[in-house]
Amino acid sequence: MTTTELARIPFFPPDLFEGDREVLLRLLRESGTCAAQRFILGEQTALLERELAEQLGAVDVVACGSGTSALTLVLAAMEIGPGDEVVVPAFGCAPLASSVLSVGARPVFADVDPWTMVVDLAAMEQRIGPRTKALMPAHLFSVMADMPAILALAERHGLRLLEDSAVAQGGVLAGRPAGLWGEAGVYSFVQVKTFGMPGEGGVVVTRDAELGRTVRMLRNHGQDGKARFRHHRIGWNSRFDELQAAFQRHRLPGLPGRLARRAEIAAYYTERFAPLAERGVLAPPPGTEGRCYYVYTLLAQRRNALHEHLAARGIDSHAYYPQALPRQPAFAPYTRPGDRWPAADRAADRALSIPVYPHLTDSQIERIAEAVCDFPFN
Ligand SMILES: Cc1ncc(COP(=O)(O)O)c(C=O)c1O
Repeated sequence: MTTTELARIPFFPPDLFEGDREVLLRLLRESGTCAAQRFILGEQTALLERELAEQLGAVDVVACGSGTSALTLVLAAMEIGPGDEVVVPAFGCAPLASSVLSVGARPVFADVDPWTMVVDLAAMEQRIGPRTKALMPAHLFSVMADMPAILALAERHGLRLLEDSAVAQGGVLAGRPAGLWGEAGVYSFVQVKTFGMPGEGGVVVTRDAELGRTVRMLRNHGQDGKARFRHHRIGWNSRFDELQAAFQRHRLPGLPGRLARRAEIAAYYTERFAPLAERGVLAPPPGTEGRCYYVYTLLAQRRNALHEHLAARGIDSHAYYPQALPRQPAFAPYTRPGDRWPAADRAADRALSIPVYPHLTDSQIERIAEAVCDFPFN
């Protein structure tokens, strides 16, 4: 069989939930016909929150409308607002900046590590000033930010710490799960995430009961759950869907197995790609400590050529993120003259992610690795 006859390997697989299709249909029927007719923030949501809290050792888990709104709710619960600054990575997903702006504060962009692409500690410290209220590091692709050092930095400067762990559910660093290093962390449940689902949602996870209570209020128009239509704070509608909660509860026991398969695929890639480092394609740092293989990302000197090369072999790849955050038209106006982010710009030019989802077969993984290794490097 020639490569053109082989089935295409998509980057975003269309069959993520195929194995659970019957369960999903059953839950849809049960949820749609149950006597209570409660479709948001009901029993299933409460059970999912409790099960996640138990699994993590968190004091509270609050399910909400998305990872983005989880960040916004925590920032609001921390009373971060106009006049405040939050130090965020210069490379990553738009909500890192937009959530800060949405509460009226200003994101200050710190450059990233040239290999791991997570925020650089020294750059983060340099960006701390008199208006800084919080640090918001993010885990990226497969690597957790250096949370022990960032926690120490936050404590040294008396700053709040919000951990954007949207993509790192399942990662563990120094025995502590991603999400529990900050006063609060978040997970996104968008379908391609490690605990993704067929819809929109996320959670706030926290070790701080009071913060959890405030987030709980803010997700439902500032009501405290005791008196309806009594609004203690200006809140949002960021509620969680009961059908999705029931489906997530069904999928939770399978999460460790899916994470292990992701790690296994990543370890294979990293071993195969080690010799490519001198030829312009750098694999992420190996290992499992502080790692969570949500996405497997290469740094390629000729990124676009590698993307084309893989496409010609029926393999989809994806460039997250083709522009650093402070270069985006939406966020550039909030930067300061003279600020530079050379490592973030380089990452934007070079990062290329290849498929790493758990239901890839061994032969697909082999085919992907072969195709990368076959790239004409010069
Ligand atoms: C680092 C980071 N933060 C926040 C989010 C937002 O999550 P959601 O898409 O659920 O709003 C994402 C989503 O990809 C992300 O990658």
